[in-house]
Amino acid sequence: MRHLLAAADLTPSEIGFLLETAEGLKRAPRRLLEGRTLALLFEKPSLRTRVSFQVGMRHLGGETIYLAPQEVGLGEREAIQDVARVLARYVDVVAVRTYGQGIVEEYARHSGIPVVNALTDAEHPCQALADLLTLRERLGDPRGRSLAFIGDGNNVSSSLIVTAASLGMDVRLATPRGYRPDETVLAETGARAQASGGAFLLTDDPAEAARGADALYTDTWVSMGQEREAERRRVDFAGYQLNEALAARAAPGALIMHDLPAHRGEEITDEVIESPDSIVFEQAENRVWAQAAAVAFLLGLATPPV
Ligand code: CP
Ligand code: NVA
Repeated sequence: MRHLLAAADLTPSEIGFLLETAEGLKRAPRRLLEGRTLALLFEKPSLRTRVSFQVGMRHLGGETIYLAPQEVGLGEREAIQDVARVLARYVDVVAVRTYGQGIVEEYARHSGIPVVNALTDAEHPCQALADLLTLRERLGDPRGRSLAFIGDGNNVSSSLIVTAASLGMDVRLATPRGYRPDETVLAETGARAQASGGAFLLTDDPAEAARGADALYTDTWVSMGQEREAERRRVDFAGYQLNEALAARAAPGALIMHDLPAHRGEEITDEVIESPDSIVFEQAENRVWAQAAAVAFLLGLATPPV
């Protein structure tokens, strides 16, 4: 049985297969998930992830059950392992949004059904799949094209760099020194870039990362659960705003990306997010198809050719 807990859980060829499956489903939805139910077990708020999973399941003939943050009390009202074992008796697959990566890992160890990481503090693989789907639609084969993430070495950037490096992209990451992703994520990104013929640059200089890039990506400086650090983070990230001056260093017509929710005037300016090169709403739309493909794959209903 397979889970999707981190971007590195998928091999480069599985990522390629998932993106092709997502493209096929987007062109012509099929009732692949007829009779299947997905539970959404969420301990943090969500707009996109929740709705895109629900709509994607419906497009493919499946159903969803949403469990809101105050309802389950994972590890508080009830032990994680008991929740996992109970839900597996009711549904076919579960998407978990929570805090520590250890929580989804523990959940998965006790789950008799596939578990999808719907965002933890460390990883957001569903977002990364939708982002690469969007880049493929815009750029064609992303091999050799450059993607610069400017900002926090957080869940979104960690999953993104591993996924983009898997597909042979020239990946650049600019973060302040104290905000780099985990060493294991950096090592995985480097190894995948080397294997795919891509590249990986880690820097604390946004201008160096942005130079000539085909796409510029940013995310909030204050992720869910970090509210108490907000003031310090706004100071530490002051030079990392995705604004017109930074965008001017990228390739002409460089794509502008953000997973949303965005904080205009903080990590990105109004002018940049509203520019004609912004693809942020395409990214949001593609969550539907990337996740539908991932669910079908984990349930063994879409299998790569051997
Ligand atoms: N991008 C994203 O995951 O958005 P939500 O937090 O609204 O689900
Ligand atoms: N890094 C952000 C992503 C939100 C989709 C957070 O974790 O809050």
